[in-house]
Amino acid sequence: MTAVGIDAVEIWTGNLKLDLPGTFAPEKGEDPEKYTKGLGLNASSFPDSYEDIVTMAANAAYRLMDRKGLEPDDIGRIDVATESAFDNSKPVSTYVAGCLEQVFEGDFHHANKGERKFACIAGTQSLDDAYNWIKAGRNRGRGALVIATDTALYARGDAGEATQGAGAVAMYIDEEPNLVELSADQGYGSADETDFLKPNQQFPSVDGKRSVQVYLARMREALEDYESVAGAVHPDDFAYAPFHTPFPGMVRRAALLAYRHVIRNTSIEDDLAADIGRQPRPEGFDSDEAYRDALRDYMDSLKETDQYREWYAETIEPTLSISREVGNWYTGSVHLARASTLKEALESGKEMAGSRLLVGSYGSGAQAEIHAETVRDSWAEEIEALNVDEQLEERYDMSWEDYEEIHDAHNHEMDVDVEEFTTPEQEFVFDGWGRMGERKYRFVE
Ligand code: COA
Repeated sequence: MTAVGIDAVEIWTGNLKLDLPGTFAPEKGEDPEKYTKGLGLNASSFPDSYEDIVTMAANAAYRLMDRKGLEPDDIGRIDVATESAFDNSKPVSTYVAGCLEQVFEGDFHHANKGERKFACIAGTQSLDDAYNWIKAGRNRGRGALVIATDTALYARGDAGEATQGAGAVAMYIDEEPNLVELSADQGYGSADETDFLKPNQQFPSVDGKRSVQVYLARMREALEDYESVAGAVHPDDFAYAPFHTPFPGMVRRAALLAYRHVIRNTSIEDDLAADIGRQPRPEGFDSDEAYRDALRDYMDSLKETDQYREWYAETIEPTLSISREVGNWYTGSVHLARASTLKEALESGKEMAGSRLLVGSYGSGAQAEIHAETVRDSWAEEIEALNVDEQLEERYDMSWEDYEEIHDAHNHEMDVDVEEFTTPEQEFVFDGWGRMGERKYRFVE
């Protein structure tokens, strides 16, 4: 059977940076450790005044096509996942194709283009669409370009303001891929929830605390559904578990719950029993409240065990390194977590070929999905080609006043012109408005 999966990935961060403990926390009168330790974030990426979801998507795709020597004829499908779209009809993928046609020979007239929406899980759904299209044999030897792009901005003063971010992840999906093979086994946890929505408005309405609870509940459902098709998950089955990361503190909470789940009825639970007892089971309690209290005590103890700490340090911590520096990229976030994972593996000299990743995606509204991926032989050369560190290093570090200005400049309800903070180079930029209100773009050499 032909393997299908992600052949290559490229990342494009917004060109500006907001230092959360250094610039944001003092302005809000908060302890910097709420950000670095609580939420697990050092900084957020922001788009400069000439950047938006199209420029970031096109720039990530341009880097990917250029590096891989791809031409428009090699691509039969362009899907963009976003929750920051600015048009209810014309998809972002058409703008992206228009940009790429400015710099590559040929065109994308025979590529199927679309836009996917389901909050942050839409990037993974686009990946699925590409996988299914190739597996169905409808690709005519071509691959698919999947791009997750977002400007995750919140209204000023909203609790979500601490977890903003902006950037794009472009992926090329193909047969016999270089990076990871996707498995057909999947688990879903999906329900009609009201935790985060944007009813025709730019900035989200968020019930942040509820969204944390919904993330955990749907993820647990998805894990159980995954186990129903792929068998029980054991901590040793997977080298890493990259999860959707709205902020690393969210993943820290999910990881503890997941670990409790996957060690149940294993020798790990038996080994831990001498120190912290066995996991409470509902049948052992007279009331739900007593069971919940016991569960909370067990989790508090589990968190402090060497076994859990080691598993967390090896399996989860490496998935968070890019996210800590850029904040939430919504649809791109879980794909950043995968990139982060493989980058950390490469830097620590770990051989990953044949190892498996347990990937957990989540979108508010709400749906979680869990699937497995197998790392391919040529993974290291793909990851070596990333220039994430340079991109992060080169971002312009905004003062509080700069941040206020750029936030206003990107606010669709304000008419504010801001001088750019950075000088674009070898990238697409926003170039004003056309006669029907369409956006225009050009490539800057
Ligand atoms: N030192 C260490 N930790 C600190 C701290 C300090 N000085 N001050 C606060 N913290 C911790 C808190 O204990 C909390 O951690 P915990 O949840 O593990 O207990 C964390 O930092 C965040 O603090 P909190 O007071 O809950 O932050 P908040 O009220 O500003 O809201 C969100 C946080 C995530 C709810 C908010 O940013 C949000 O709405 N984000 C958008 C929605 C979202 O991303 N949802 C996720 C699901 S997709």
